[in-house]
Amino acid sequence: MAQTPALRVGIIGGGFMGRVHTQAARSAGANLVAVASSSADGAKRAAEALNIPTWYATVDELINDPQIDLVHICTPNATHAALAHKAIAAGKHVICEKPLAVSSAESGALVEAAAAAGVVASVPFIYRFHPLAREARARIADGTTGRIFSVRGSYLQDWLLESVDDNWRVSSAAGGASRAFADIGSHLVDLMEFMLNDRIVSLNAVTNIVHAERGGKKVETEDEAVLIFKSAAGVIGTLMVSQVAPGRKNRLLLDIAGQAESIEFNQEHPETIWVGRREGSILLPRDDSQNSPEANRLSTVPSGHPMGYVDAFAGYVRDVYATVRGEAIDGVPMFADGHRSSKVIEAVIESAKTGAWVNL
Ligand SMILES: NC(=O)c1ccc[n+]([C@@H]2O[C@H](COP(=O)([O-])OP(=O)(O)OC[C@H]3O[C@@H](n4cnc5c(N)ncnc54)[C@H](O)[C@@H]3O)[C@@H](O)[C@H]2O)c1
Repeated sequence: MAQTPALRVGIIGGGFMGRVHTQAARSAGANLVAVASSSADGAKRAAEALNIPTWYATVDELINDPQIDLVHICTPNATHAALAHKAIAAGKHVICEKPLAVSSAESGALVEAAAAAGVVASVPFIYRFHPLAREARARIADGTTGRIFSVRGSYLQDWLLESVDDNWRVSSAAGGASRAFADIGSHLVDLMEFMLNDRIVSLNAVTNIVHAERGGKKVETEDEAVLIFKSAAGVIGTLMVSQVAPGRKNRLLLDIAGQAESIEFNQEHPETIWVGRREGSILLPRDDSQNSPEANRLSTVPSGHPMGYVDAFAGYVRDVYATVRGEAIDGVPMFADGHRSSKVIEAVIESAKTGAWVNL
């Protein structure tokens, strides 16, 4: 029997995500064909560092390479839409980083373009791919958690704590009108809605800029955002996002209270979830003898051999590639999920500006 040929992929962007996607693509069995970045020099450096055989001086050459089946877009937010449209027009499958676009008009057009072209188009909401995030989703779906009452969620980082800290994300021209919320709040809301199989229908947000200037320029994007929300199923909750919380590195935490139990998932400690009960709270480990089929499917090494962010990323990319091969896989975040996220981001910006509740 012949093996299914490896998917041939190209990477655009040679930064943090370029490295992580390359590693995940290799782990998922792809053939890494080429890399392109913002300059020929950058592409060459990335090709050497990532051991990718070909580098292109321009992104167009990579997108039009007939040897490439799928393009990973790992560039700053404002470049996503144009690059994704080009890749779709060239008939490629696409993985495009979050936020999918810097407006819902852009992300909506991408959903339509991908559907019209019949390509697989996905956004890396990768926290869905922690086995115990799936465990939480399974417990909620099968009724173990009971009717959900409320959610307390937060996503906290500290890498932009000081006024001297700067990044392209601070600029609305490169990152979009929202920074902290679009950058990490997008993950938080996606994961919460995925776990609950429910959606925010109304929210009220407050945002804050703690440093008026960074890098000698006026800051227009928020460092912190807080919101209260109501969901379609009647759940209420609070979400807090910050990139200026000292000591917090990448603390995405969801604490979900249901009638029968609470579930707390903390992505910095993804090998256990806390299951809180009036009597008999437990820390539930990743363990195939106690977890759901979906958690076990994503669990690639036995319990006691810790899995983390890189493994979740690899699980995500594996599932996207399987979708490209025609397999029906649960929970792969598609462009429609990226578009949903754009609408939530816009609602947060609008509510923070007007002080009013915004319906979604
Ligand atoms: N899914 C996740 O967990 C996750 C985590 C971090 C970042 N991200 C997203 O990934 C994207 C990239 O973030 P990053 O942290 O890797 O940024 P980065 O600054 O580390 O890397 C960006 C890369 O893109 C290149 N680039 C810039 N403009 C370009 C252009 N017009 N054409 C081609 N290449 C260009 C840069 O030279 C650089 O190599 C962002 O959209 C971010 O929101 C997602």
